[in-house]
Parts: sequence; structure tokens; C-alpha cells
Amino acid sequence: MSIRFDESNRLFQLDTLNTSYVMGVQDRFGYLLHYYYGKKLGQRDVSYLARTNEPPYTPDRNEREKLAFLSSAPFEYPTGGVGDFREHCLEIRTQSGFNALELGYQGFRIYPGKKKLEGLPASFGTEAECDSLEITLEDSLLDLQVVLQYSVFRDLDVITRSVRVCNRGGKEKVIYLTKVLSACLDMDNADYSMLTLHGSWARERRMQYRLLGYGRQGTFSERGESSHQEHPFLALTSPNVSQTTGDVYAMHFVYSGNFQAQAELDSYDQVRTVMGINPYHFSWKLEAGESFQSPEVVLVYSDAGLGNMTRTFHRFYRRHLIRSPWRDRKRPILINNWEGTYFDFNTDKLLDIAASAAKLGVEMLVMDDGWFGNRFDDNRALGDWYVNEEKLPGGLERLVREVNKLGMKFGIWLEPEMISPDSDLYRAHPDWAIQIPGRKPGLARNQLVLDLTRPEVVEYVWGRIRAILDSANIEYVKWDMNRQLSDVGSAFLEADTQGELYHRYVLAVYELQERLCSTYPNLLLENCSGGGARFDPGMLYYSPQIWCSDDTDAIERLSIQEGTALIYPLSTMGAHVSVCPNHTVGRVTPFETRGHVALAGTFGYELDITKLSEEEQREVTNQVALYHRFQDLIRSGDYYRLASYRENHQYDCWEVASEDGREALVTFVQVMGRPNNFHSRRIKLMGLCPEAEYLVEESQQIYGGDALMYAGLPVEDLWGDFRSKLIYLRRVDR
Ligand code: DGJ
Repeated sequence: MSIRFDESNRLFQLDTLNTSYVMGVQDRFGYLLHYYYGKKLGQRDVSYLARTNEPPYTPDRNEREKLAFLSSAPFEYPTGGVGDFREHCLEIRTQSGFNALELGYQGFRIYPGKKKLEGLPASFGTEAECDSLEITLEDSLLDLQVVLQYSVFRDLDVITRSVRVCNRGGKEKVIYLTKVLSACLDMDNADYSMLTLHGSWARERRMQYRLLGYGRQGTFSERGESSHQEHPFLALTSPNVSQTTGDVYAMHFVYSGNFQAQAELDSYDQVRTVMGINPYHFSWKLEAGESFQSPEVVLVYSDAGLGNMTRTFHRFYRRHLIRSPWRDRKRPILINNWEGTYFDFNTDKLLDIAASAAKLGVEMLVMDDGWFGNRFDDNRALGDWYVNEEKLPGGLERLVREVNKLGMKFGIWLEPEMISPDSDLYRAHPDWAIQIPGRKPGLARNQLVLDLTRPEVVEYVWGRIRAILDSANIEYVKWDMNRQLSDVGSAFLEADTQGELYHRYVLAVYELQERLCSTYPNLLLENCSGGGARFDPGMLYYSPQIWCSDDTDAIERLSIQEGTALIYPLSTMGAHVSVCPNHTVGRVTPFETRGHVALAGTFGYELDITKLSEEEQREVTNQVALYHRFQDLIRSGDYYRLASYRENHQYDCWEVASEDGREALVTFVQVMGRPNNFHSRRIKLMGLCPEAEYLVEESQQIYGGDALMYAGLPVEDLWGDFRSKLIYLRRVDR
């Protein structure tokens, strides 16, 4: 068992392969306090970690300074209103208007394996892989029960946390939850910096470090989705952090809506890090007997730097979050017509593209936006999910049949959550859009969002999805979402449940994707949100790949993919080769470089292949061959970040090594040419066996694994900017 309860000290210790997490029950008030998270401890008595005898921690002596205790003790799940003035995790409003809450320990349950979280995406594991702990806390006045849920993944250094809150119907028949965060981590500060991911459309998930300052700081979304701008990830890193050194405490939220990820440095130089649903416009009505389940937070601690954290997340998500059967399969190389044609296509055009692509080895045609209703541009028709026969005579059935005849699979784009004011759907059901009665809702891309809290709207959307998927042999869906939520109001919800809309919306998206995955288990689903605005672990539960960004420029992609791969496996990153000048930044990069960068993701094309030159077409054939050669390694290997253009302003370099260290593929992208480059660069590789020898295919040179890792592989500069090369090496046994 990876979870121990020490009866004499009422101490819980959660152990993974290399980490321990310790908490305990404080005697006098029965508070659950957090003692330790970090490098693994032995099975000794560590109750001294409680430090409850140190001022101002004096609750066992008297109650005189109870507030000093409450506002400084390390709480496992802090609540508001009774004297802890730092950020708290749970807030309520009673019918009488009070908000105070005080949780005392009641009991616990330990069991092997992990239970599903009702209605929510969450990690999974067998009894052989993980154990779970539920600790019950209670506010006795309100008869409100809080169950802290932990799962410990023994071999992966991962602990997951979530919370269930139950109104047992004591004094208050109805309790409004106004804030339910999923996890809290109280620690002493050690000059930590906070690592978060930020961006915008076409600039998603760029890494940012900032030294923790006093007060509250963090990253938040109030946009109804995890968003381009912020990301539900936060890590505290020690001052010496690098890819291979330093402490990293990381939290990642398995959720696709509004979130709060925050660190607070207090006056005692303690840090409280919290993560959960953003309390902004959140309120959840709990009638007697009802409970609320929070989404899950994934906790990773690494004492060996960021790279170790990255590989832990990668393994964890590959094994314990992505449930699609496509997770471990080579994905078909696709060609998507979006950047190739935008809205200007018909069956003939698509078949032309498909025919040329098939000849070069591309395996699937994806028809993007513009195939339905009156959708000749992005101003109209969302919601009218009926084939536009003017563009596609003979409908999907004919198009897909012809594509299949070319030996290709067929995929389709959908944006099921949206409604255009100029659509038959809106004309029939204006009240199906999210909006506040009497207030004109703001448009984004000329569209509104469907009110998915209404059951009939969910049924309409599901009915249309089914009709489309059942009408032809569709093997892939790109599920898009192109605007954020504003004017949040529902004609369906009561006044005291309007605050449920944001979360109910996300739950409805999950419900729809759950139906999609269970009804079409072999469908390859790719989530997308105006590029990568909903690239989050919640979506990963349903789709094994997510479109990273609408920015397909190879150089912009370096930082986008670096930030994304910080947490997400390469097999999840939607990445395509597109034409130059690039449609987002106008940059011209070699076709080869675009291919090398896209190979670090799911790989595909996003262009009109019929317009490529002969030389470019030959390059496509080469890239297809590279994909087939290296895809298994890229999908299943360990990822190492060797150098970052973000830091050195000259070149980017990453490596994927097989878990057994037998082979590795290094991608080197020289962003800017280097003058007077009389020496090659020595790039230190990782993940090899030091005692083994490796043949570098390109140079046919043999090197020792130790030399490659400790001294480095000589990588010569390339002529010009934006150039790249792949370096493959494999172990030679002599
Ligand atoms: C945004 C997506 O990210 C693009 O790839 C494309 O599908 C457009 N939407 C279509 O409207």
C-alpha cells in the first residue's frame, strides 16, 4: 500500500516511488494540517513535522491566539470566515447569509485503485497501479461534509486530488457553494519562482517565470474555457532549477473551463498554492442530500528539475488520462483544407486535394469549416448542421465514398457549441444562446454560444452530430470552439442558479464528448479551440490529440510547442506543415524545417497540395517517410529539452529517446545563422546508456553514450536562418 495511516499520531503518509506527502490531524480542534511534500521519506515517525508547539502555533495550550494559529498553520484544505485570512479553498453562503465554515476531521477510507469522478474527466488506474484515500472533514454546525480525495500512482510520482462536498441537510436545507477549489499546498518558502504558461491566439503556452512576491499571484481564466491567454498549470521552482536540477512542485488542473491557479506568499514566508474552478460568477446550490464533485488536480514533485517533471506528466497522461484507443497507435497523416482553401471549396476541389495527397502518401482528408448551411464565410450558419449541397453535391456520402476510393480516410470539422445569429437555428430558438435578458450580447467572430445547460439544446447538438457521423464513413472529428463566453446568462436557469452556468456548460461539453467517445469508440477525435485555447487535460481525456495553435509558422511553433510539451506528450500536439509566406506571420521558412517541427507533433498538412512545386512534393514524400520511420519513437519515447531558442536566441533543440535508451532522435533548429562559427556546438544529449556506444546515422560516427551525454554531440551550424536537421542515433552492441 502506498498510503499509510499512523494511528498513534493520526498521520497520513502517501508514498510514490520517489516522493512522500504527509498530513496529520491536529489534536485540539481536529484540523487536518499539511506537513510535508517532497523527496521520499522512510517509514518513520515524522509527527514532529507538525510544529504545532511552535509559536504562533499554540492551539493545544489555549484558545487565546486561535486566529494567529488559523492564519499561519499549514492547512490541507483551508476554509474561510473563521480566521484564516489567506486564500481558502471552500466558501459557502447559507440561506441566512453567513459564510463561515470550520472543518474538523471525521475519518478516512483507503482502498486500492481509483474511482471515476462523476461527470468529469479524470485520471484512471488499476488496483495494481494506484491506491486512493478519502478523508472526511465536517462542519458540525452546518452538517456539511467535505471528502478530500487522493490517489497515489505508485510508480509515477503522481498524486491526484479532488474534493466532494455534501450538504447533509442539517441546520440549513440549502447551502450555496461560492468557491470550491480542488487542491491546496502549504509550504515554507524557499525563494521559489512561479512557472506558468501564457499567450494569446497564435501565441499559446509561452513559459514565464517570476519570483514569488508577497501577496497573491497566479494565473486565471474567466473566459469559460482554459483559454489561449492562461493555462491551468502552475509550478513552484527552486532558484537553481534547470532541466536536470532543482525542486519543482507542479499542479495541473484536469478541467476545461474557468480556473484559478494561485500562489500566495504570506507574512510568515509561507507559500500557499491553490488550484480549482475560478470562483468568478460561480455559485452552486446544494439542496439537502446533494453533493458537488470538484475536478481533479494532478500533483507532481521533482527533485531533479523540469525535465523529470515533464517526463512524469507525459507518462502519466499517456497511461492514465488519455483513454482513446488511438493513444498508442500511429495516427493517419492528414491533410486539412483550412489554410488551403478557407471557405472556398466544393467536392471537386476537395477530391483534387485528396487525389494529389494520396499519391504522396497522405492518409486522411479532413474537411474543415464551411461545408454546412449557408456557411460561405465565418459570419453565419453555425448551428445549421446540414450539408450544403451546393458545395457538396451528393452530400457527405458521395464525397467520403470518393475519398475512401483513393485509399484515404475522411475526417470532418464541427463546432457544435456555437450558434450564429444569422442561422436557421437562431431564428427558430433565439433563447438557445447564452445571453442576459434585455442586454445585447457581445459577438466574437459574429457568433454566440449555445446554452448547453438546456437539456433540449444538448439533445439537438447530439442529434445533429449523430446524423452527420452516421451519414458517411467518417473516421475523424475536429471539434472546434471559436469564442469565449461573455454575457453569461441563461433563459433556462433560475435566478439562484445562474452562477452554475459556467460549470454546467463545461459539464455539458464533457457529456457530449463522452457520448461521442462511447458511441464511436474508434473515432479519432481532435479537440481545437480557435487554435489551442482548450488544450488542457480535461480535453485530453476525450481526445488523444488537440490542435496546438492556428499559428503554423515553424519558428513561432518552437515556443508554442516547447511550452505545450513542458506538460503534454508529443503525441497529443496537433502540428501541420503549411505554406509560406506563413498565413499568420508572413515568414518564409524552408519546407524541410516546417516538416521537422511538425514531426514533433501528430504531423499532417494544412495547405492546397495541388499548388505545391515538384520539389515541394518530393519533400512531402520524404517527410511522409520520416513520419513512418520515427513516429513510434516520437509517440512513445522520452522527451528531453536540450536547448531553447527562447533562452539562447539562436537555436532550439530537443530529443526523443526510447525508454530503454537504445535509440534517439534529435531535432536541431537553427533559428538564426551564426557568424564566425568556427566550431560546431556541443549539444549534450540525455536519456542514453552511458556505458553503451551509439552510431550517429548522419555522420556514421560512433560515440560513447557517456561522451554524448557529458561532453556533447558536435552539431555543425547550417547555412542560413530557419534551417533544421534531424540526427538519429542508435545503440551499437559490439
Ligand atoms: C479555428 C481552428 O483553429 C482552425 O484550424 C479552423 O478550423 C478554423 N477555426 C475554422 O473556422
